Amino acid sequence: MMKNFSSSPLHSNNNQTPNHVRERNNRNYSLLSALPLRFSLRGYGFCMATLFLFCFASLFYQLNGGPPKILLDIRQYLGVCGKKHWSGKMAAGRLFIHKERLARQLVSGPNAHKQRRGESTFLDDHGPPAPNVLPFPSQVVYNRVGKCGSRTVVILLRLLAEKHQFNLVSSDIHNKTRLTKHEQVDLMKNISNIPQPFLYTRHVHFLNFTRFRIEQPVYINIIRDPINRFLSNYFFRRFGDWRGEQNHLIRTPGMKDDERYLDINVCILENYPECSNPRVFYIIPYFCGQHPQCREPGVWALERAKQNVQENYLLVGILEELEDVLLLLERLLPHYFTGVLSIYKSPDYKKMGNMTGTVRKHTPTLEALQVLYHRMRYEYEFYNFIRDQFHLMKKKIGLKSVSQPPAHSPSFLRELALRTPEPLDEDEEFDTDLEDANSWLVHP
Ligand SMILES: *[C@@H]1O[C@H](CO)[C@@H](O)[C@H](O)[C@H]1NC(C)=O
Ligand SMILES: *[C@@H]1O[C@H](CO)[C@@H](O)[C@H](O)[C@H]1NC(C)=O
Ligand SMILES: *[C@@H]1O[C@H](CO)[C@@H](O)[C@H](O)[C@H]1NC(C)=O
Ligand SMILES: *[C@@H]1O[C@H](CO)[C@@H](O)[C@H](O)[C@H]1NC(C)=O
Repeated sequence: MMKNFSSSPLHSNNNQTPNHVRERNNRNYSLLSALPLRFSLRGYGFCMATLFLFCFASLFYQLNGGPPKILLDIRQYLGVCGKKHWSGKMAAGRLFIHKERLARQLVSGPNAHKQRRGESTFLDDHGPPAPNVLPFPSQVVYNRVGKCGSRTVVILLRLLAEKHQFNLVSSDIHNKTRLTKHEQVDLMKNISNIPQPFLYTRHVHFLNFTRFRIEQPVYINIIRDPINRFLSNYFFRRFGDWRGEQNHLIRTPGMKDDERYLDINVCILENYPECSNPRVFYIIPYFCGQHPQCREPGVWALERAKQNVQENYLLVGILEELEDVLLLLERLLPHYFTGVLSIYKSPDYKKMGNMTGTVRKHTPTLEALQVLYHRMRYEYEFYNFIRDQFHLMKKKIGLKSVSQPPAHSPSFLRELALRTPEPLDEDEEFDTDLEDANSWLVHP
């Protein structure tokens, strides 16, 4: 069922796991807040009661569907001192967070904290202190979307898991993105039982941990231009990838020639199910969730997906700017992704990456592309939303975005098929799941 690529916990000489770091910080703050009230027992009691109330409220908030605290911490960190720190470090081409730096922060004690934060204390803020260091999530879920370069990322993750000693669990179920309630709970329990820090990845629609009172992990994901993704999948199903067409024909004996050699223009213009809704409503459900309505093309699913991204995703990158995605992951999740860009750019990896992805057979006619574009308008609305968010995040961190044409002009459609190089993707990604899903819709 699952492959465990690295099961050892952190190095023994490094038992300051991210959580320990956070705990120590918190203790410092509570100490700090108690200092001015040292001689007043009542004051002290009041302080502890406030702290307790706050902790309780935040827990309550989390269990009731709010964004995970760690995500709020990271956002707050970015908002408070993001630009200043990050762009400087980026310019120097150095990594922002090192273990040594963290250690220094830890030994510098409460007074140093106080100095850095000016006169403001925990009690003054009536809220959580802005973190001085980037918080470390220790539970990350990458619910990878099919044909969006996830295999490339998983290969990188395998190398990184060894390097940074986190637990990578990569499910090899590629054809079951929607689960029954029972399966959901089972899977979420399994995920939350993986020793931390972990990164879990599977082709699966968003799972709402809070709904079942399980601590919500931090999510990450990568998507790409919806038509490009669709074309990639269309030809991959029929002709496979870099391993060769012959190989693929042998591996998919079940496919009739009628289907395999179906002209993509015919498929689109004559409304074959494969090229129509709900099948082409593909990306949004990954972010919307397991609710049946998440599979129905429309505003409801779109809005829910957007809201979910804002509440639960640390980063959703776009494949068209993969190097920047990796760079941001390196900055946002350093104890998972430090060094990922240099691996990605290394000659050894390039050689591996030379196995190009899906064999692209034809580009649909402009007419077919326009029909498809209209059919996928929600997908595009979502994609554009994600792209804007991604660019915003880049800006926050001090990266420039290359300006690209808005995704709706005819010239955009014409050049579409050529724009993104095909990345490596999963071995198998057939539509069994969709048939499954549709029958599920009919008989709820
Ligand atoms: C959960 O873990 C158990 C034991 O490792 C395994 O048998 C089961 O299939 C897993 N369930 C899911 C949904 O992955
Ligand atoms: C997750 O579950 C919580 C609690 O039931 C709910 O408030 C929240 O809206 C759900 N979120 C999603 C995206 O389903
Ligand atoms: C990629 O493969 C092609 C042919 O298969 C070869 O000519 C080319 O040198 C390779 N590129 C790299 C970077 O290995
Ligand atoms: C998924 O694929 C496996 C084989 O790879 C197959 O045995 C299984 O029935 C498929 N599941 C669904 C839901 O189609």
